Amino acid sequence: MRVLVVAANKGGVGKSTLAFQVAAEMALHGLRVLAVDADKQADLTRYARGPRLAGLGLDAVIADPSLDPRPYIGPVAENLDLLGSSPRLAEADEVLSAAEGGAFFLHRCLGVVADTYDWAVVDTGHSEPIIAAAMVAADLLLMPTTASAPDARHAGEMLQTATRVRRELGLSSEGLLPRSLIAIWRRQHNGVADGEVIERLQERFGDLVCPVIIPHSSRISEANDQRLTVRQHAEMYGSSRDRPLRAAVEAYAAIAGHVLTRSGAASDGRSGGAAPQAEVDFDEPDLTRLAAAIRRLKSRRGLDDDQLAELLGRSVDWVRHTLAFGARHPEGEDRLTIRPASRAAARDLVGARTRWRP
Ligand SMILES: Nc1ncnc2c1ncn2[C@@H]1O[C@H](COP(=O)(O)OP(=O)(O)OP(=O)(O)O)[C@@H](O)[C@H]1O
Ligand SMILES: [Mg+2]
Repeated sequence: MRVLVVAANKGGVGKSTLAFQVAAEMALHGLRVLAVDADKQADLTRYARGPRLAGLGLDAVIADPSLDPRPYIGPVAENLDLLGSSPRLAEADEVLSAAEGGAFFLHRCLGVVADTYDWAVVDTGHSEPIIAAAMVAADLLLMPTTASAPDARHAGEMLQTATRVRRELGLSSEGLLPRSLIAIWRRQHNGVADGEVIERLQERFGDLVCPVIIPHSSRISEANDQRLTVRQHAEMYGSSRDRPLRAAVEAYAAIAGHVLTRSGAASDGRSGGAAPQAEVDFDEPDLTRLAAAIRRLKSRRGLDDDQLAELLGRSVDWVRHTLAFGARHPEGEDRLTIRPASRAAARDLVGARTRWRP
C-alpha cells in the first residue's frame, strides 16, 4: 500500500475536496483505496457520507492500543472505503503528544490494512501531532494551494515539515520530494493576478507543481454538500455547457493520474531503476484493444507521450505510432511485451486481453 497525504499550512485551500476526489478517481482506476479523515472537522467524512460520530472513526482507533482500524472502516463506493473522523479527534492531540511513539500511530494503523488496499489517501487538518504522524506515514505529499499570493506563500511548506519531522525521528525523506506535488486551485479564471502567481509557483517549484490547474466551480461545493464526487455531480446534474465543471472533473482525474505516475516513477528509482514491478505479456495481442487501453491510460492520467513511454517501458516512437495507428509488433520482435513501471498501470492494461505476470 502507498500512502498519499494531502496537507497544507493554510486553511480552506481545498485539501478535503482534493483528498476525496483523488481517492474516488483512484478507485475508478480499479485500485483499492482507503480514504482516511485525519481532521477533527471531519469534512472528508461528510463528503464521503461517513458517520461523523465520536467512537466510530480515527478517534476510536487512537484510543485502542492495538490501533486496528478495521472495525471502523466503512464502504463508500466500489473500491473505496472510509476511515472517518469526528470532532472527538480533537482529544487525540494530547494522547498522541503524551504517548511514546505517538508519531508512528498512523503508520502502524495503516500497516494493519496494508494488504487490503493499494492506496490510503489521508486528509489532514491543523493538528500538529496528527500532521506529524501523517508525515511519518507518507509516501507522497499532495499540497494544495489557491493561486492567491497569501496562500501561495505557504505552498510546499509541508515538505519542509515532513523532512524535519522525519529527520527528528531518524527517518529518511529521500524520494519524498520527487514523489510529491503542489496542486493549484485557480479561483479566478481570467484573473491576471492568479496567472502571475501560478507562473511564480511554477518557476520556484518546477516539477513539484502539478501541471493541471484546478478550476473554480461553484458546482464543487454543491457536490460536496450533496455528498457526491464532482464526477457524479456532473453526470447527474451537469450540462455540457458548464465548462468549469467539466474542467474540474478532468482536473481531478488528471491529478490522480499524476500521483499514480509519480509513485510509479519513484518506485523504479527506489528499486534501482531497472526492475519492472509487473509485466504485461501480450502473447496473443489484440492490438486494437491494446491501443484503446493505452489511449485510455493516457487520457485518464493526463500523460504526455514521453511520460506514457516511460510508464509503459517502450519507446516514444512506438507509443506515438500506437496512439495514432494502433499497436504493432516492434520490428524484430515476434511478440509484444510491455513492462509498465507501476502495478497500477499494469492493472489498467489488464483490461485489454493480457496475461499479467507480477
Ligand atoms: N475548485 C474549487 N472550486 C470551488 N469551490 C471549491 C473548490 N475546491 C474546494 N471548494 C470549496 O471550498 C471550501 C473549502 O474546501 P475544503 O474543505 O476542501 O478545504 P480545506 O483545505 O480542506 O479546508 P480546511 O482547512 O477547513 O480543512 C469548501 O466549501 C469547498 O466546497
Ligand atoms: Mg479540510
